[in-house]
Amino acid sequence: MDVIRIEGGHPISGEVTVEGAKNSALKLMAATLMASGTTTLTNVPNISDVHTMGKVLKRLGATIEVVNKHELRIDTSSVDRWETPYELVAKMRASTAVLGPLLARFGRAVVAMPGGCQIGARKIDLHILGLEALGVQFEFKHGYIYASAPNGITGTVVTLDFASVGATENLMMASVHAKGTTVIDNAAREPEIVDLANLLNEMGAHVRGAGSPLIEIEGVPELHPVTHSVVGDRIEAATFLAIGGLTGGPVRVRGFEPIHLGLVLKKFELMGIEIERGAHEATASRKGPLRPVDIQTLPYPGFPTDVQAQAMCLLSVADGSCIVTENVFENRFMFASELDRMGADITIEGHHAIVHGVPQLSGAQVKAPDLRGGAALAMAGLVADGHTTISDIHHIDRGYEGFVEKLKSLGASIERLTVPDEDLLDSE
Ligand code: EPZ
Repeated sequence: MDVIRIEGGHPISGEVTVEGAKNSALKLMAATLMASGTTTLTNVPNISDVHTMGKVLKRLGATIEVVNKHELRIDTSSVDRWETPYELVAKMRASTAVLGPLLARFGRAVVAMPGGCQIGARKIDLHILGLEALGVQFEFKHGYIYASAPNGITGTVVTLDFASVGATENLMMASVHAKGTTVIDNAAREPEIVDLANLLNEMGAHVRGAGSPLIEIEGVPELHPVTHSVVGDRIEAATFLAIGGLTGGPVRVRGFEPIHLGLVLKKFELMGIEIERGAHEATASRKGPLRPVDIQTLPYPGFPTDVQAQAMCLLSVADGSCIVTENVFENRFMFASELDRMGADITIEGHHAIVHGVPQLSGAQVKAPDLRGGAALAMAGLVADGHTTISDIHHIDRGYEGFVEKLKSLGASIERLTVPDEDLLDSE
């Protein structure tokens, strides 16, 4: 099994450039299904989730040419199937992002029901309810969702109970050819939603209001292939800025928009981290102690749940106590239990985590619970006393390209090892 092994205490400073956003690239890839021909996506992160989405598209009949690792030329002209297999959807829930595009292109789709994952049930009831309002009919059997629109898709007002990112994306894509106009009320406002709307409009769609809670989509007959660059990954950027804040840095992070991390950077500054903002970059450093700051995760522009673990890592060594509240997922504190193994003092009460700062973490053998928790454990390992060994690092590979290499370039004593399953290295 592959593990990451880190020796803490080395000075960390330098600069990294983040990749294109995983949580945009996957949906942009799905959206290529709606424009027959070859769409070119640039600034695509070279991560395992993108490879999995590539397999989903190929299974539907698309062909993909990868140019220099970060450019995908996706030809969907010969796509003639509309079923996504269980093994791919189970591997990556984001495969459900093909639901909207397949309905838009074929008026039907068969998608395996996504399993839950470490961080929660990951239901898609809001996707289903919204699509039913647009005239889509569903059957659920043998672990598959059978969707069809026998009378086509007709625009209407869809009000989401929760500003779900995935539901907003599927509804936006399903309604690009709808009869009439669709309004998504209480839509998700994440920058990745705006990136998807930009791609659709470049393809000839009429999407207005993306980034606001009210998105309006006027149906058009056809979309055409384009070339589009994926928006920079604000979550990867937040991860490396948190590393700069934790270690003292300075760490300069390029390739993203600081405006997409408004509240995150504000909270980091309240913690005593110095943030210098630039065009498409920011630098994080710290001289004084980390201060405790309460965090509540919320849909954008609230504090992102995908930065919760990284913030928890910072707060675990702050000079006081605070509360981290996770409002988006029902089980996203697994990371805290792993951090406790490294000497943190965190108590979970429902969806609150009470964090008592400790002076120093200590290296230990830990498991990555999910993608962001894995990255945050590596963060902790950088400052912990002794060695930290992280297993289940396939989670990290899903969303962080060259994670070990980037940390090495910042001065970390870090390596990726393959160890026999039974004898995971003991940390000193
Ligand atoms: C996207 O997941 C991201 N994934 C997540 O990033 C991110 O944490 C999340 O948005 C919130 O920002 C991708 O974009 C691939 P949601 P998504 O629909 O679309 C509940 C990462 O680390 N819900 O906004 O699944 C759901 O259970 C990943 O990169 C329903 O109940 O998020 C969850 O509790 C993790 N019914 C909450 O809403 C639904 O129909 C947020 O879900 C849909 C969602």
